[in-house]
Amino acid sequence: MNTDGRHVVLGVTGSIGAYKAADLVRRLRDHGCTVTCLLTKEAEHFITPLTLQTLSEQRVYTDLFTLENPHVIHTHLADRANLLIIAPATANVIGKLAHGLADDMLTCTALATKAKVLLAPAMNVHMYQHATVQENLRRLRQLRYHVVGPNLGSLACGYEALGHIAEVEEIVRAALPLLGMAAPKAAQPAAKPRSASSASHGSAKKRRR
Ligand SMILES: Cc1cc2nc3c(=O)[nH]c(=O)nc-3n(C[C@H](O)[C@H](O)[C@H](O)COP(=O)(O)O)c2cc1C
Repeated sequence: MNTDGRHVVLGVTGSIGAYKAADLVRRLRDHGCTVTCLLTKEAEHFITPLTLQTLSEQRVYTDLFTLENPHVIHTHLADRANLLIIAPATANVIGKLAHGLADDMLTCTALATKAKVLLAPAMNVHMYQHATVQENLRRLRQLRYHVVGPNLGSLACGYEALGHIAEVEEIVRAALPLLGMAAPKAAQPAAKPRSASSASHGSAKKRRR
């Protein structure tokens, strides 16, 4: 692990919520963290490596197999990480982690690291409520993965429902204590976002288009 205690590896996956990763990088850096981003192949449909590389001022990794670097990058990053955040975390990546699968840069790093892991799930409400996703999340919590969100909110699929990625401030508030840093006080929002634990699971409403 990095000796300054503030090296965050941020895994970004193929969810519409990936746009929030850009802001998350900035907010983590505001708190003195060094942030190295890993994108799944599908994440690149939603956010560019260049955006994250520019904001983080660190090389962004997407490919497990590369000749550009003589190190085994995923184990190197896994060893250096003080915290791995996966935000957004797709149903797919949650499923892979719950079953110990490692077929890309992000999942190999997640299995290889001794650092704490924080997941910010984001997906369609019915995906989120699916018994296998719930079972995978339960299993990951048992394995001491940390989970923030999802929230009740406006989903890309048109539902006003659970599945919206946690707000960036919430992810930062969950992350800093895992790095041994004091969490900033929560701002008082006009309407507090409802989290997975407080909102009813049966309340999916489709917005009119
Ligand atoms: C427009 C669009 C939005 C998507 N949003 C999500 C999402 O929020 N959460 C999710 O679990 N999957 C979402 N998917 C499906 C994932 O992209 C798909 O399962 C992909 O294989 C995930 O790959 P990854 O987990 O390796 O990043 C979306 C797909 C599309 C086309």
